[in-house]
Amino acid sequence: MESGSADGTNMRDTILVTGGCGFIGSNFILQRMQADATSVVNLDKLTYAGNPRNLESIANNGRYEFVHGDIGDRTAVRQLLTRHEPRAIVHFAAESHVDRSIHGPDDFIRTNVDGTFALLEEARAYWSGFPEQDRQRFRFLHVSTDEVYGSLGPNDPPFRETTQYAPNSPYAASKAASDHLVRAYHHTYGLPTLTTNCSNNYGPFQFPEKLIPLMILHARDGKPLPVYGDGKNVRDWLYVEDHCEAIAAVLRNGRASETYNIGGWNEKPNIEIVETVCDLLDEMTPSGKDSRRSLITFVKDRPGHDRRYAMDGRKIERELGWKPKETFESGIRKTVRWYLEHEEWVRDVTSGGYRQWIAMHYSS
Ligand code: NAD
Ligand code: DAU
Repeated sequence: MESGSADGTNMRDTILVTGGCGFIGSNFILQRMQADATSVVNLDKLTYAGNPRNLESIANNGRYEFVHGDIGDRTAVRQLLTRHEPRAIVHFAAESHVDRSIHGPDDFIRTNVDGTFALLEEARAYWSGFPEQDRQRFRFLHVSTDEVYGSLGPNDPPFRETTQYAPNSPYAASKAASDHLVRAYHHTYGLPTLTTNCSNNYGPFQFPEKLIPLMILHARDGKPLPVYGDGKNVRDWLYVEDHCEAIAAVLRNGRASETYNIGGWNEKPNIEIVETVCDLLDEMTPSGKDSRRSLITFVKDRPGHDRRYAMDGRKIERELGWKPKETFESGIRKTVRWYLEHEEWVRDVTSGGYRQWIAMHYSS
């Protein structure tokens, strides 16, 4: 290992990010590259959701390296850890779309459960070889979701870090399983882990199978806007850059073994989100015809659709001083504008596999 780092340990200022070509991972890497002098190694399998173009602007930066690979490939992970000697692993890589997990859960178990297990095993072996002072400083930060807590009734208090797990979809169950593994690796082996559970993100680079980008692009193109069930399911929405700052704060100052809930204090029913997107498009690109709201179409509900999520973010605010900066009004406006201004990115991701998915999923 190199010696003489600023914090007096032998560790390099490198972090290994998994899944950094996805929506949140790429926002996180772009933000970190601007914010400090950390070097980033990005391990990504480039599934349909991974897009290296998200990181085009830093592709030639000497502090950034992309490695195409699977978190489940233990030899590849071992070699990466040995070569780059990161001081932390920030683990985003996952299958992340609930509807896809309902159609085909296999990949969710493979990546989210088996993949996280493989990564933890390699992290443990790597970390076990450290001198004592470095062992305390290493961090394995696992990025997880509010969906592990299940569904709330209209008057239930928001999820806290102590809320009992009750995952309802194969996606949520696979994330819950990975959270439990992370917890066990701290409890049993002492691996310095951190877990963040976050609510729904929105913003640039989100793959347009998720509610907000899907609605923006369909509304732009005058296509039907498929709202599941009665449209009254509630999510708590957080602008992606706020989430990335929260992860950075947890990585910097979070207490090893702790979990932190991250939310936007911004609960909204889906129908309200869709109407807001319609109104913004009417304003930014007037169609001269009916309001885009006329495109709203209620469709068959998602099986097992969780009714409401809400996050209690008081712990991270109290302990780490983090709270969201962006309001929903400013964040959604920026997001709609971003999709309208990034036509080439949209064309790139909406080719091939994406079209097949839309055709299969919405055919009924
Ligand atoms: P995403 O689907 O946009 O990106 C996932 C990335 O992981 C892609 O780049 C993909 O290529 C990569 N990947 C998938 N399997 C891999 C494997 N086996 N090995 C290496 N790379 C692999 O996901 P996202 O929305 O950016 O979510 C990132 C993380 O944050 C996930 O763990 C998700 O559970 C969690 N999360 C997401 C949200 C949200 O609203 N999107 C909210 C809370 C938590
Ligand atoms: O809560 C955090 C989770 O948020 C993350 O862990 C997941 O990775 C992320 O995908 C997201 O899950 P959701 O299922 O909440 O997100 P999605 O965008 O798929 O759906 C949001 C809500 O909108 C949900 O109630 C279902 C509804 N919906 C979604 C789509 C795609 C529709 O009504 N119509 C649609 O076409």
